[in-house]
Amino acid sequence: MHFTAACLLSFALYISTCKVHAADNYNYDYDYDDQKCSMTESIIGGTVKYSKDGAVGSEVTYYCKDGFKPYPIFKKICNSKGKWEPEISRVICEEESDYDDIEEPQKNCSVAEIIKGGRVSYSNEGLEGSVLSYHCNIGYYPYPVSTRVCNSGGEWSIMILPNGKTVSTATCKDILCPGQLQLDNGQLWPKKQWFKIGEEQEFSCREGLTLSGSAKRNCTEWGHWTGTLPVCIDQTDGCRDPGIPPGAIRSGDRFQIGDQVKYRCQSGTDLLGPEVRVCLDSKEWSGPEPRCQAPYVFDLPASVAQAMDGSLSAVMDVSSPDFKKKGPNYGRTLKVADGRLNIFILIDTSGSIQQSQFERAKNATASLIRKLSSYEVEMKFDIISYASEPQHIITVLDNLSGNVDVVLKRLNLFKQTQHGKKTGTNLYKALKSVHERLAFLKSKNQNEFNETQNVILIETDGYTNMGGNPQYVLGLIRELLGYKSRSIDNSHEELLDVYVFGIGASVKRSELKSLASSKIRERHLFILNSYEDLGEVFNRMINDSAVTKCGVAHELVSPRIDADDDDNDLSQVAYTRPWHVSISWQAKPCQGSILTENWVITAAHCLMKLNGVLMEQANPKDVIIEHGDGKVDASLIILHPDFNVTKLRDKSINEFYDYDVALIKVSSTIKLSSKARPVCLPCTKAANRALKMTSISTSSTCKKHKSALLDLQQTQAYFIRQGKTRKSTHIQTGEKRGDCIEQFRPTLASNNLVSLTDVITDRFLCTGGSQKYKDDITCKGDSGGSLFLRKGMRYFQVGVVSWGTKLVCDSTTPTVSEPPVDARDFHISVFSIMPWLKEHLDKELDFLPLEN
Ligand SMILES: *[C@@H]1O[C@H](CO)[C@@H](O)[C@H](O)[C@H]1NC(C)=O
Ligand SMILES: *[C@@H]1O[C@H](CO)[C@@H](O)[C@H](O)[C@H]1NC(C)=O
Ligand SMILES: *[C@@H]1O[C@H](CO)[C@@H](O)[C@H](O)[C@H]1NC(C)=O
Ligand SMILES: *[C@@H]1O[C@H](CO)[C@@H](O)[C@H](O)[C@H]1NC(C)=O
Ligand SMILES: *[C@@H]1O[C@H](CO)[C@@H](O)[C@H](O)[C@H]1NC(C)=O
Ligand SMILES: *[C@@H]1O[C@H](CO)[C@@H](O)[C@H](O)[C@H]1NC(C)=O
Ligand SMILES: *[C@@H]1O[C@H](CO)[C@@H](O)[C@H](O)[C@H]1NC(C)=O
Repeated sequence: MHFTAACLLSFALYISTCKVHAADNYNYDYDYDDQKCSMTESIIGGTVKYSKDGAVGSEVTYYCKDGFKPYPIFKKICNSKGKWEPEISRVICEEESDYDDIEEPQKNCSVAEIIKGGRVSYSNEGLEGSVLSYHCNIGYYPYPVSTRVCNSGGEWSIMILPNGKTVSTATCKDILCPGQLQLDNGQLWPKKQWFKIGEEQEFSCREGLTLSGSAKRNCTEWGHWTGTLPVCIDQTDGCRDPGIPPGAIRSGDRFQIGDQVKYRCQSGTDLLGPEVRVCLDSKEWSGPEPRCQAPYVFDLPASVAQAMDGSLSAVMDVSSPDFKKKGPNYGRTLKVADGRLNIFILIDTSGSIQQSQFERAKNATASLIRKLSSYEVEMKFDIISYASEPQHIITVLDNLSGNVDVVLKRLNLFKQTQHGKKTGTNLYKALKSVHERLAFLKSKNQNEFNETQNVILIETDGYTNMGGNPQYVLGLIRELLGYKSRSIDNSHEELLDVYVFGIGASVKRSELKSLASSKIRERHLFILNSYEDLGEVFNRMINDSAVTKCGVAHELVSPRIDADDDDNDLSQVAYTRPWHVSISWQAKPCQGSILTENWVITAAHCLMKLNGVLMEQANPKDVIIEHGDGKVDASLIILHPDFNVTKLRDKSINEFYDYDVALIKVSSTIKLSSKARPVCLPCTKAANRALKMTSISTSSTCKKHKSALLDLQQTQAYFIRQGKTRKSTHIQTGEKRGDCIEQFRPTLASNNLVSLTDVITDRFLCTGGSQKYKDDITCKGDSGGSLFLRKGMRYFQVGVVSWGTKLVCDSTTPTVSEPPVDARDFHISVFSIMPWLKEHLDKELDFLPLEN
């Protein structure tokens, strides 16, 4: 069947456009058809589930309890005559027998499958259970399926077209964008249901009305449109015209408070987001903007990261103890007195998930947990891996559930095999355990419960195939929190957010849609292509919403950036070290870091020149500071008063670097962004929040920060090499410090006028040389940069790079992968110069009590 008929049936408005499309002769199989199969199938001893209400091409699948399987078939397809195929009248649940499996000789599936215009990959060499994946070039998608599984008979799972026929080979089909079908009070051109990649659609408004959104949109190779939804703005005293997304038909054109609009998507697409939106008292439409997506179209990680981050930031801001009401961006208000947050993560581990996918899901979840921990909120984690039965990786009731390291460790240790043979998908039961935990917390402390936010994140690759209706349990959870079990819009549910991530082509979008929260201007449902994409989303999260916070940075998204090659894309790198600046004065390369939007810290020797015995200090006017997002000049330079490079000259020490630090005030405020923002300076209130020590804020001190950050004899730390790359080293403290500085003694050998500690004073942190880790060492030109640590997902500067014992590279030469074993670097500890920092920065940073 071609499109023409479908158009006539579902969109009488567009007869002419359908002709255009039919001429393209797409053999599109997503057509409306009135034939339906009966929904009266049954299985003795089990349950059945229908996809798409028995429409042509839909499936009925049989399920049995664990240990049993449907016999003789597990699935039927509705054929074009409205009959289930194959026509077998009796399906029963039969006990699974391991015996049979052992007796059968192992048959392998062919690993010579093809797809026209693409390639095929196999997991596990075609053995039973291995997965075949079709891959098409950009702009195409595999049809009718993207993966197949090898069954015990050595056959790949059959491929069924929506009309019920089976096909033996897959093809790569063009990705298409659904066209904009309606524009109230305006015109659109061309009018058609589907657009090919690169095609444009144009919009204009009736005389006197203004167009908001794009006048022209392009269909991209991902099946998304460029630009934003066109809407013709008509003056009204109710809600604004909510627009009509591409592929959708809207009914309802009254936008007064209380009015409703309804959306329906054209055949071949699924509606994501709400079917009904209501004009609320606040003159805003309930829920997020709906989307019509074809099953082969996925959300892009970058856009998901942004939407997710925006929404999560709103949650976090509300939970944050020193929450300040944000701009008009998110409608949330402060309810909780003392930020508390429970995060429930439900990971689908059902039989359809491959081992490698499960590992990726775990990795993605770990990135998420690390990201979340960068928010300044106390949170507890509850992680459930669910198949037929939920398995608890960690529960909120455990007093270690607030310790990110423990949570990550438990997650890492968890094995998919812990589910045994129970490989169904029972989201109901998983959510039921969330409900039980919440009920327990409520009974334990009603007041605390009322002030604790709950975030539920569901990661799934499919749909529920057993157990009760997950939506029902969500209703119970809502009731527990004092909300109605069902409502069109969940914006008022301040204590609950349900995010759903559907992964891969087989997710049932309509089912997932009904689970995700529907909140104004926030998205809670995301459909991604793969678990890799999910990992990328979580890695990319953390955005400008966190902009004013110190020590927030992107991780190295791809290993490419970590590599020592010189082609590193500098603009990318900036996100990974946003506080870092390069300082140039008289062609002398140096580095520094941003402490506040007006102040940069660097090494004093970067701003001095020795002219015989005279020290010449840089004129601020000649100093240029380059940060991740631009350049600024210096307006004031403050060298540490105790820095005196010639101080030990008379003791035959030519250059002496004690107190090698300087502050530079910039001539114009650095505009903070994700490429330029401050590092956390210990002993400040901002660092206190980043360390999550707020609950003991009354007693937090500088000393406590020092022991929280440098608590070990060897603390892993980083510096930025050659202005780009984050490099790892170890700070040697306590007993290890002696050994570390000892490496300088040979240099002093002939000097009996000073002792080792006269030169390497207490101000210096010593790094390098730990045998176990092969520490990296700095290059000439790295001076002035930060020596920093990571705690949770935040970065703290503990030292200023000053000097080193071995010169192995400069600012442009290649670096050595194995530095000399006796190479050591020395850095001025920020703890040792805190009074001086406080003296100059007190106006911009809130310092903690410095004395003990
Ligand atoms: C199936 O593949 C496995 C691994 O490649 C091989 O060892 C085995 O002999 C194959 N079996 C058959 C029947 O080809
Ligand atoms: C759409 O694509 C064309 C080229 O195919 C390009 O010239 C045009 O600028 C694009 N328009 C938008 C809005 O991206
Ligand atoms: C998961 O992460 C670990 C450690 O970060 C890595 O070694 C492993 O290759 C990752 N697994 C997958 C499937 O990406
Ligand atoms: C939780 O903490 C209490 C004391 O605060 C301790 O007695 C108990 O063993 C802890 N439980 C777990 C599971 O660690
Ligand atoms: C918490 O909720 C209960 C019942 O919903 C209510 O009686 C109580 O006052 C609430 N407590 C706070 C601190 O809001
Ligand atoms: C952060 O969010 C803003 C909009 O809020 C967006 O323009 C920007 O691209 C995002 N940055 C990153 C790195 O994702
Ligand atoms: C540096 O130290 C030397 C030797 O003690 C002293 O003569 C000189 O005045 C000092 N310079 C400054 C700027 O303090």
